[in-house]
Amino acid sequence: AISIKGKHFLTLLDYSQEEIRYLLDLSKNFKDLKRSGTPHCYLQGKNMVLLFEKTSTRTRCSFEVAGMDLGMGVTYLDPNSSQMGKKESIADTAKVLGRLYDGIEYRGFSQDIVTTLANNAGVPVWNGLTDDFHPTQMLADLLTIEEKFGTLQGLHFTYMGDARNNMGNSLMIACAKMGIHFTACSPKALFPDEALVAKAKAYAAENNCTVHLTDNIQEGSTGADIIYTDIWVSMGEPDDVWETRIKLLKDYQVNADVMKYANEQAIFMHCLPAFHDTNTTIGHAMAKKFGITEMEVTNEVFQSKQSVVFDEAENRMHTIKAVIYATLS
Ligand code: CP
Ligand code: NVA
Repeated sequence: AISIKGKHFLTLLDYSQEEIRYLLDLSKNFKDLKRSGTPHCYLQGKNMVLLFEKTSTRTRCSFEVAGMDLGMGVTYLDPNSSQMGKKESIADTAKVLGRLYDGIEYRGFSQDIVTTLANNAGVPVWNGLTDDFHPTQMLADLLTIEEKFGTLQGLHFTYMGDARNNMGNSLMIACAKMGIHFTACSPKALFPDEALVAKAKAYAAENNCTVHLTDNIQEGSTGADIIYTDIWVSMGEPDDVWETRIKLLKDYQVNADVMKYANEQAIFMHCLPAFHDTNTTIGHAMAKKFGITEMEVTNEVFQSKQSVVFDEAENRMHTIKAVIYATLS
């Protein structure tokens, strides 16, 4: 039987297909328990700390609800209220928190920070998003895809937009590990890092699938079962990136034309938050400044029957619960 007790959850690069499978199956069990109202406070007496250096709605709330459902104590530290990185090193912070808590979630900047926490904590560390990877999001996305298609193996997945960011990186690896054909459809300047592409291609070869990069929208989206996109400028990037990013990516918007190239039963996915209209504060300000009305996805596609974005959001909680439970017990 598979056990990941005591293991960190930093990137899916560290996880085998069997371990990912195990976490997805556990997530389904937890979702059934939650849906049927069956109590599952299996981790009573355990405590975790959530360390956030960037803002969050889904990840923070998923960790909190998952922890409460499991009967745990939960502490949230916001971007300004700990000593970490200012008066105290990452390593010392990890040593202190590891003495007090059974597990540590971290959201923030470089992957090095979460790795340093993991190397010093003595308890499992979970990556709640860095500049490079977003592994808990991957489990939610894989669970959602499996719920919609009944399988993962052999599906065709197209990621449109900034393929160099945490989502592009993570989705490429997740697909290659699970046997899903992956296409990054983006301008060449935003193709993923070559070394990471090489790793993904090696996994894909083992799992009977492919990794493909293209800047051609029609070619990239034709025959896709899943069209996925993400925001064009990520947290932590300077505001002056918006102008060049909009110029590079405006043709890569997921709109009705793109969805027509995709398969008829294709689904639309987005990790959220999404700028699908200009009602959001930053979206509005940036759109107005650069003379566009919609960004990475049109409101039409976002609101369509093909869109499964809120299933993904819900699945963040069930999958995060599985990660906490599997690494702590
Ligand atoms: N998808 C995601 O990680 O959302 P939050 O930034 O709200 O946590
Ligand atoms: N790429 C986005 C993902 C948000 C969940 C960001 O890092 O801001």
